[in-house]
Amino acid sequence: MAGVFITFEGSEGCGKTTQIKSLANKLKTLGKNVEITREPGGTQIGESIRHLLQDPLNADKITPITELLLFSACRSELSERIIKPALARGDFVVCDRFSDSTYVYQGIGRSLNLSYIEQLKTISVGTLIPDLTIILDLNASTGLERAENRQSGTLDRIEAESLQFFEKIRQGYLDLAKSEPDRFFIIDGSLSVQEIESIIWDEVKKRFLN
Ligand code: TMP
Repeated sequence: MAGVFITFEGSEGCGKTTQIKSLANKLKTLGKNVEITREPGGTQIGESIRHLLQDPLNADKITPITELLLFSACRSELSERIIKPALARGDFVVCDRFSDSTYVYQGIGRSLNLSYIEQLKTISVGTLIPDLTIILDLNASTGLERAENRQSGTLDRIEAESLQFFEKIRQGYLDLAKSEPDRFFIIDGSLSVQEIESIIWDEVKKRFLN
């Protein structure tokens, strides 16, 4: 595919949303076409599934396997309707989370069978893999505090998990990054917004804008 696919990953409150907007604006300033999207969500069906997945009222109503299937259904919609067409047009796609979130949250966090996760990945997206995945790495308790402050103390269904769960998520990302060191780029999420912006921009320029 002709375009460039960049994903952002990390635990709750790591600052992905701010950085995605900033990167997309910089790319647009250079005249690039940029599709910004997110998971779960990004399509009509995906946004409805996002609501189901995040609603705290569903706390005890979604089994880990149902959760895995819902995230996979969202991803299939997003890949077919948004990501693959944008890449085929030669655009930049900047996506807030992708398959790596499922590996880490459902595979490592919920301890689901990793071979199920791999099979569902193939079913939902085929061979689509990001060209670059930026991980904003942040201490789990700082991230949760940020998430709580952002939503004035209300946490969604997944954010309400234990600190121990989010420590597993953080470590899961760090371990996953070691398995594909060329694709992943880890940044210290405790740096200032401006410092992170500039590190990301240098990396994107180096890889895709020469
Ligand atoms: P966020 O994108 O606003 O961080 O919210 C998405 C939530 O969904 C977050 O808690 C991570 C979780 N998630 C999974 O558990 N598995 C997935 O595959 C994806 C995409 C997200």
